[in-house]
Amino acid sequence: MSFPDHRLRRLRARPGLRTLIRETTLAPGDFILPLFVCPGTGVDKPVGSMPGVSQWSVDTLVSRAPDIAGEGIPAVMLFGIPEKKDAAGSASWKKDGIVQTGLRELQKAVPDLVAIVDLCFCEYTDHGHCGVMRDGDLDNDATLENLNRQAVSLAEAGAGVIAPSGMVDGMVGSIRGALDAAGFETLPIMSYAAKYASAFYGPFREAAESTPAFGDRRTHQMDPANGDEALREVALDIEEGADIVMVKPALPYLDVIHRVKEAYGMPTAAYQVSGEYSMIRAAAERGWIDGERVMLESLIAIKRAGADMILTYFARDAARALAAGGGRA
Ligand code: PBG
Repeated sequence: MSFPDHRLRRLRARPGLRTLIRETTLAPGDFILPLFVCPGTGVDKPVGSMPGVSQWSVDTLVSRAPDIAGEGIPAVMLFGIPEKKDAAGSASWKKDGIVQTGLRELQKAVPDLVAIVDLCFCEYTDHGHCGVMRDGDLDNDATLENLNRQAVSLAEAGAGVIAPSGMVDGMVGSIRGALDAAGFETLPIMSYAAKYASAFYGPFREAAESTPAFGDRRTHQMDPANGDEALREVALDIEEGADIVMVKPALPYLDVIHRVKEAYGMPTAAYQVSGEYSMIRAAAERGWIDGERVMLESLIAIKRAGADMILTYFARDAARALAAGGGRA
């Protein structure tokens, strides 16, 4: 291929031609909206570090859910902020726990909306770590026991997908076994398979009230320097029975998304995390970037890299922008 026989600009000259040669498309059906559920009634408490994101009580969640589904968004990811925290995070497996209650109400109100639940302990432990602690570090195998209890409790409350996010070794196999033993063999697992120890989670920890009281998560989450290791993490989770594998964060890890999709061809999710969201929002607020265009460009880039679905706080804004004709070729 060489100039002047080939001029790639020929096919870029008109919107219709650009549409015809477009390789990647974005639709509301690609998005999963993360939501924070908290105690109380009538609560809509904005998260300061994430403009446009709030903590909602269960009734607020139920009243807004039909609009979310109506915008064409197929699924939400629920995070719970419990009334009380303890060392084990036992509020996470209570029958009347915050997410369990949210799930039951949501099922009644909008049965078609898929309710994915984040399975972890950092929002439920008084120390803010993702499981049982021993000698200042996460006790892997003791945490597995508790993850099983949490998974079965959420399944009983009507979860549509279980999404373990703790990067605990063996978590997928352990949860699969517990779910199957409890009669939930058809309930899918979306594993946070390649999750990095990332500074981009900063704003989330305010939203979910889950900042570790000491230390960090580097003994279980991945080193941002590693790509091959991500493939090993994903391979193990697939072997253990993961139905969907996730890479997180998204935009700084497009190479990892691409490699995971190429290597395994699995349904692949990418999580555009809180820091990615807040950076775009903050720059847009200052008028430094066009917020809508950067939002849509970041989402199409994540899809082009290989993601089949994107967890994003922009889900509703993006769905509305697409409906209004944004992001056209
Ligand atoms: C753990 C969890 C975290 C996020 C999702 N699940 C936080 C962490 O690992 O510290 C981060 C999501 C985001 O930043 O948007 N329950």
